[in-house]
Amino acid sequence: MKPADRLSRIPPYLFMTLRKKIQAARAAGVDVISLAIGDPVEPTPQAVIDELCRAANDPANHPYPTDEEKGMMAFRSAVAGWYAKRYGVTLDAATEILALIGSKEGVHHFCLAVVNPGDTVLVTDPGYPAYKASIVIAGGEPLPVAIRAENDFLIDFSEIPSETAKKARAIFLNYPNNPTGAVATPAFFAELAAWAKEYDIVVCHDNPYSEVVYGSTPRLSFLAAPGAKDVGVEFNSLSKPYNMTGWRIGMAMGNRDIIAAMSKVKENTDSGIFNAIQLAGIKALSDANDNVDKMLSIYQTRAKVLVDTLKACGLSASMPKGTFYVWVRVPEGKTSASFAEEILDKAGVVITPGNGYGANGEGFVRFSLTVADHRLALACSRIKKAMGRS
Ligand SMILES: Cc1ncc(COP(=O)(O)O)c(C=O)c1O
Repeated sequence: MKPADRLSRIPPYLFMTLRKKIQAARAAGVDVISLAIGDPVEPTPQAVIDELCRAANDPANHPYPTDEEKGMMAFRSAVAGWYAKRYGVTLDAATEILALIGSKEGVHHFCLAVVNPGDTVLVTDPGYPAYKASIVIAGGEPLPVAIRAENDFLIDFSEIPSETAKKARAIFLNYPNNPTGAVATPAFFAELAAWAKEYDIVVCHDNPYSEVVYGSTPRLSFLAAPGAKDVGVEFNSLSKPYNMTGWRIGMAMGNRDIIAAMSKVKENTDSGIFNAIQLAGIKALSDANDNVDKMLSIYQTRAKVLVDTLKACGLSASMPKGTFYVWVRVPEGKTSASFAEEILDKAGVVITPGNGYGANGEGFVRFSLTVADHRLALACSRIKKAMGRS
């Protein structure tokens, strides 16, 4: 049976080419170490698990969670409290917050709520692949906007021709940035809000790594920029700060018309998030922020181990300012894919080829720091050996 035509327009899955090689290596008995996926190995904080168990045992939480279709008011109020405390942003829990089944779900439903068939939607290149896929499913046309090392992987708005900006319906961007680890500044977000207002473009700032910033790098929300709520929304998620990727809980915040439109899509698509997960989410937001500090220290130690290894191998690696990814230029004469394949073949380590994030990711690879310390140490010693440095 032939699937719908729109599916053939979705770019191939990032790991398609590597997947067969990984399977072959595993079948041949290689202990493959994956540094490809951003998924914390450390458990969710115990207090959050305990709250889930308590709430799951309460039959009041068993029906459809549809009474409050934007998410439980208690969860939205906790989000408002978290945003006020951590980002200095004031949000109205009733109209400016929508609970999500993770930020990725928000991306999809944002497109269905905002993008008409044929609309142009700008996406950073490199950028998180789900943006393009959701734009295509909604019938829109993704248009890449290059972000480059010379500009700290921030968008240079002067590079976007005004003809392009005029026809764009929306823009997706994400800082702290997957895959580059770059971070934004308040001045950049202010410029984004002003530019979007000038061209009547809806901003979707995807911010799931807002808490994963190192040293003196500030935690930032686009919504703190002047005029941000007039032009867009921000997504965030409990996945990364609280090691809750599998729980599927996040939030969309900001412009109330967009929140209402997304809510309408969701009311007709899913029936919300299990109340017990929302209650556990409240626990995380209000009581588990020490987990963030713990994880930042773990990621920073791992980043140093990896960056030192890559430097010893002659690569120009540097510590990320945000996220748990290290984005590195491949050696002269290699491509993203050839270098990733070589590391898999010679070291049994999986890394992500940068071209999977867009044409401007060519010439880079991404390493993820979400593996146990001893696995990272083993991966590093194998990479050194594979590159003739041990
Ligand atoms: C930029 C970006 N957005 C969204 C997500 C998905 O987050 P969630 O688990 O909240 O769906 C990821 C996950 O890696 C991501 O890197």
